[in-house]
Amino acid sequence: MSEKKGSVFNRRNFIRASVLGSIGAYSYARWVEPGWLTITEKDIVLPKLPPALDGVVIAQLTDFHFQPDRDESLIADAVAAVNAHQPDLIALTGDFITESSKVFSPLMQVLSGLEAKHGIYGVMGNHDGWSQRPGFYRQGFQEVGMEFLTNRGSRIELRGESLFITGTDSVWSGKVDAAACWKGHRDEPVLSLVHEPDVFDHLRPNHRIDLQLSGHTHGGQCRVPLIGYAPVKVRYGRNYIYGEYARDDSKIFVSRGLGTVGQRVRFACAPEVAILTLRSA
Ligand SMILES: [Fe+2]
Repeated sequence: MSEKKGSVFNRRNFIRASVLGSIGAYSYARWVEPGWLTITEKDIVLPKLPPALDGVVIAQLTDFHFQPDRDESLIADAVAAVNAHQPDLIALTGDFITESSKVFSPLMQVLSGLEAKHGIYGVMGNHDGWSQRPGFYRQGFQEVGMEFLTNRGSRIELRGESLFITGTDSVWSGKVDAAACWKGHRDEPVLSLVHEPDVFDHLRPNHRIDLQLSGHTHGGQCRVPLIGYAPVKVRYGRNYIYGEYARDDSKIFVSRGLGTVGQRVRFACAPEVAILTLRSA
């Protein structure tokens, strides 16, 4: 009899603890982690990088999904964190907005504080393309002295070497034109900016990519702690979810980004500023 009472008591306690645990986990994912900015500092070895470019620092911000009156301080903190690392280049890899393009201008006001020695480059995300054509974003970038690459490449000179930066359209809301991106490329290293990471598999076989930077997946947005498994997959973001991956001499880095879509929840997958230092082999 007492054993039975004990088991009911334990079961009730277990249920109560489970409910309280679930409420606690949800509250954390809903109210704490989405505003908890993290800085990832990482060396990325690129086998074909000229030694003179060893140490070049690239800061990446992605997937803002900006909402005024909610996100200004998070983005301002990200801008300050980037500037503190004095990057050579800054990559903004898309999804500036979620639905209304009216929020793009207020976002650019905050992002206009970014500083980089050799330029700030942006590309389309799928949400950007569902709202406006690339010219809309290009104009906003030009107004604050940044460059927006849509199916286009740009060569920059630094440390006595060349670096070719390509930027694609979104594969989901637009069309990727690889020939246009790589037009004018000679034999210099290529930094490829593509919102959706899985495009890597289509571009890499026929085009030189030393490093692709992508976002789109939000790193899974909610992950299983410790093992990092992300159960929710998004179209064009199934093969590369978060972090660094290598395929032959090409690397891809996928950032968790800053914002969220749908329910504003993140779990074991906090907003991220990525500070990447290129290393020659
Ligand atoms: Fe996206």
